[in-house]
Formats: sequence, structure tokens, C-alpha cells
Amino acid sequence: AETLAKLRMGRADDLLTTLCLATDKPIMLAPAMNRLMWSNAATQDNVLVLKQRGFTLLEPAEGEQACGEVGAGRMPEPLAIFNAVVAFQTKFQEQQKQTDQAWSNAKSFWLGKKLLITAGPTFEDIDPVRFIGNRSSGKMGFAIADVATKLGAKVTLVAGPVQLATPVNVERINVRSALQMFDIVQTVYADADCFISAAAVADFRVAQPAEQKLKKQPGLDNMTLELVKNPDIVAWVSEQSDKPFVVGFAAETQNVIEYAKDKLKRKNLDMICANQVGEFQGFEQNDNALTLITETEEVVQSLSSKTQQAIALLSFIAKQSF
Ligand code: C5P
Repeated sequence: AETLAKLRMGRADDLLTTLCLATDKPIMLAPAMNRLMWSNAATQDNVLVLKQRGFTLLEPAEGEQACGEVGAGRMPEPLAIFNAVVAFQTKFQEQQKQTDQAWSNAKSFWLGKKLLITAGPTFEDIDPVRFIGNRSSGKMGFAIADVATKLGAKVTLVAGPVQLATPVNVERINVRSALQMFDIVQTVYADADCFISAAAVADFRVAQPAEQKLKKQPGLDNMTLELVKNPDIVAWVSEQSDKPFVVGFAAETQNVIEYAKDKLKRKNLDMICANQVGEFQGFEQNDNALTLITETEEVVQSLSSKTQQAIALLSFIAKQSF
């Protein structure tokens, strides 16, 4: 419990936590402790945060504990830990091999290229305190921005309202609504070699946002909001004669590939990343599984971190000639 708390805080006052803080390798945790320490909200919160940061957790076993109590928190059998470590390592090494390959393919291509990325949701105001939004976290677009910069690209990131740190060396422009995002993209797209539209742009906005907070009216049980269509930013960029290489995203809960191919054509995109949104991937998640689609190619990426998906995506774009 103590080590989990220290790892969560980023402390480094002993050998173990120092090693954990000073590595870029994945870390697997197999915590064991008294059942009440394990179920304590503080411990569970620490575990949640560590998982979100990419730590892999081997859940403690249930049963008799060293302290004499019985419950969840018991150390798993050593053989179970050993097998989990071996499986984890095999998976990691396989992914690492693919990532290294993708990285070296992409590096020479992206050096000096200018990349424009939109990321996150847009918020469409109803009144000064309410808005229509969506569950996009912005993590995919931010991961692409981060990886592309490390590959040597010059990245402009137009970000909707998200609570994410700006990747080092990325020029970030914050916007709130689809119209604001459209404004910025219109002024900067011509300078870009490639435009990746990862933002979940609202299809509609409120026709007339109220200037003051809307109040409940006695006896009024329904209200109607009039919505008007937002400009389709990625489709607009694709229509321009001086358009960069244009990559769209298609996040869907069903028929993903079919809808994605339709969008590729309809919006005249050079490439589209199909994204199944579900319980363990897509919106609000750290992992994703993209299918990368052009007119002639379709490559399925297996579920991995958004950083690994970004490397695969940027390496795939590097193979397209533009
Ligand atoms: O049609 P749909 O919204 O599903 O298409 C998704 C793709 O279109 C994404 O790449 C998204 O960033 C882009 N898009 C846009 N402007 C809109 C709506 C979607 O750029 N108004």
C-alpha cells in the first residue's frame, strides 16, 4: 500500500521507487496487503491513477492472509505471478519490435514536415453555464502531436476543451466551439503538409445561445433547442486546391469500417482511421485499436496504447506518397 502511494506521488526515496521513476519501460505491479488496506479508498484511488498512467496490475488473490484475516489482498501464488510476468514481457517485446520498426520508418519522413492536428471535443454553448459536448478526451490527438514532434515534425495542435498537458515543443491553440476550431484551421491549414482531424467536432450548434442563464418556468415541462449544422472542417480542408494530405477519424459504435470507408469517399479524404468506441477503447480510454484505411489499403492495428497507435499511424502516413 505504501509503495503504491509513493509510486502515485512520483516519490523516489528508496531504490524501488527510484528505479520506477527513472525508467521508460512498462511496469507491472503485483501488490499484496491486508484486505482492509487493499479495499481502502485511498489505495483503490492510487491503483486507478497508476493504471491510467499505464501501469499493469496483477490483482491480489483472495484468501487467508499473513495477518490472520481472510479476504482480497493476499499475494497471488508465485507461479501465477511468474506466468503473468512472462506473458506481459512477451506481449511487450512483440509490441516493442513493431514500434521500433514503425519508428525508424517514420523518422526520416516526418523530419521538418508541418503537421496540423485537431483534437478533443467541441463545446457548443446553450447559455453561459450549459453546453452540448461529447466524451472525446483528446488523448489520441495529443498522442499523435507528441509522437510527431519527437519524430522531428513541426506540430500545431488545435485543441478543444480538454485537461491535458501540452506535449513539449508543440504549438497549441485552444478553442471551445466548432466555429472557433474552423476559424483557426482556415487560417493555418495552407501552411501544413498534413492535416490530421482527430477532434470530435459537434455536428450541430445551438442556433441562438442565450445571453443569460435559462431559468425553469413554472408549468413548462418541455423545452426545445433549435440546432443548426456546423461546418464540416475536414471536408472543407479537403475541398481546397492547396490542401495538405488529409487524415480523418471515424469513431463509431457499430459498422465502423463500412461507415469509415463511406466517410473517406464522401469527405474526399486521403486516409481515415476507423475507431471502434467501446468499453475498453476509444473515448476516455488510454488504449485504442485503429484500422488505417486509404483507397487501396486497409491495415488493422491491435489494441495498444494511444502512443503506440500514434506511432503506427504516423509510420503508415509516411508510406503514402505526398
Ligand atoms: O462525419 P463524422 O463527424 O463522423 O466524421 C468524422 C471526421 O470528420 C473526423 O475526422 C472529424 O474530426 C471530422 N469532422 C470535422 N468537422 C465536423 C464534423 C466532423 O472536421 N463538423
